Amino acid sequence: MENKKYLGGQWLDESTIKHLMQNKERIPDPMRYKKEAVHYRRAGKSGLKLPEVSLGLWHNFGSFDSFENMRDMVLTAFDHGVCHFDLANNYGPRGGAAEENFGRILRENLAGYRDELCISTKAGFGMWKGPYGDGGSKKYLTASLDQSLKRMGLDYVDIFYHHRPAPETPIEETCYALHRFVEQGKALYIGISNYNRAQTEAAVAVFRELRTPFVLNQVCYNLLDRTIEEDGLKDYAAAQGFGIIAYSPLAQGLLTERYRGGIPTDSRMRKSFTLKEERLTDALLNKLAALHDVAVRRGQTLPELALSWVLKDSAVTSVIVGASSSAQILDNLRVDPCFSEEELEEIEHICRGEN
Ligand SMILES: NC(=O)c1ccc[n+]([C@@H]2O[C@H](COP(=O)([O-])OP(=O)(O)OC[C@H]3O[C@@H](n4cnc5c(N)ncnc54)[C@H](OP(=O)(O)O)[C@@H]3O)[C@@H](O)[C@H]2O)c1
Repeated sequence: MENKKYLGGQWLDESTIKHLMQNKERIPDPMRYKKEAVHYRRAGKSGLKLPEVSLGLWHNFGSFDSFENMRDMVLTAFDHGVCHFDLANNYGPRGGAAEENFGRILRENLAGYRDELCISTKAGFGMWKGPYGDGGSKKYLTASLDQSLKRMGLDYVDIFYHHRPAPETPIEETCYALHRFVEQGKALYIGISNYNRAQTEAAVAVFRELRTPFVLNQVCYNLLDRTIEEDGLKDYAAAQGFGIIAYSPLAQGLLTERYRGGIPTDSRMRKSFTLKEERLTDALLNKLAALHDVAVRRGQTLPELALSWVLKDSAVTSVIVGASSSAQILDNLRVDPCFSEEELEEIEHICRGEN
């Protein structure tokens, strides 16, 4: 213990402290788990706990974004107990850039904190040329995970996901490849993403046979997208004991005040092709105004209401929010998943366009 100092809530050795000081970086807030904001939930029936609000690095962590802003967002999140960071091989642009940038933050700011972090990545979308850079084959997934570990400077990820179903690959091959990563110590837990109920059932059957620690299906779920309710996936998750982790819980920013007065020049709708201007109809703006009123009555902001609503259900382990600034992250931490019957009914009326 003599060469170690207690800093940032834990014992750090001298070389780690020197490294942090040389980089003139902030030390994580020692009060990070004592703030009122974030609670933790188990991923299904597994022992893995995740913060109710996690941070995703899909947008704003690419080659052309401000590195200092990325650093600030990751550290602000961690300072408030958000210890789960969600990545994928292709997040950028350029593909791989988000993992590289996150790896740099880990090196420069979070060395010594690895055991407090839950880091996930994925493969399943097109990443490099040729037949082995996309899909669900053992060949692609193996190479991709190795590349991701290298980019982030990690020995293992906490959760590795197959990013989307790959109909050309037998589900047994995909699941067995994922299972092997756990056996090899390259991933602790396994997830799938964008699998509908039928596809999930097929994967669960293989995972069960292999005794794979399959813990999460990562899917789009928010007030405006009810697909997982409609196809029964949410109920199936609860019955089978794996968790739903909701991506785009703010519908890429629509369920905030961002677009209620027009389209800001620095918004995702202006900067990226993933959120189309056509979404911003009068009908949607009416819904947002009505949801805003419900939020105000609950003493919340619109994004707080939207996140609370996704988290009202115990089948949901966490919401993965995206952000373009630390202020947005701070705005999104005050969730209250308790709703009265009347509030839920009113919200349903609004979302169905009956208000
Ligand atoms: N598995 C998959 O296929 C998949 C797909 C999509 C996403 N994901 C994961 O889910 C994560 C989150 O997705 P997402 O970025 O679409 O989530 P989101 O939380 O629905 O949208 C994030 C965007 O909303 C805006 N925003 C957030 N908080 C705000 C606030 N308080 N006030 C005003 N605007 C606010 C920001 O937009 P501006 O940039 O305009 O400021 C931000 O970039 C991703 O990073 C990724 O990890 C996974």
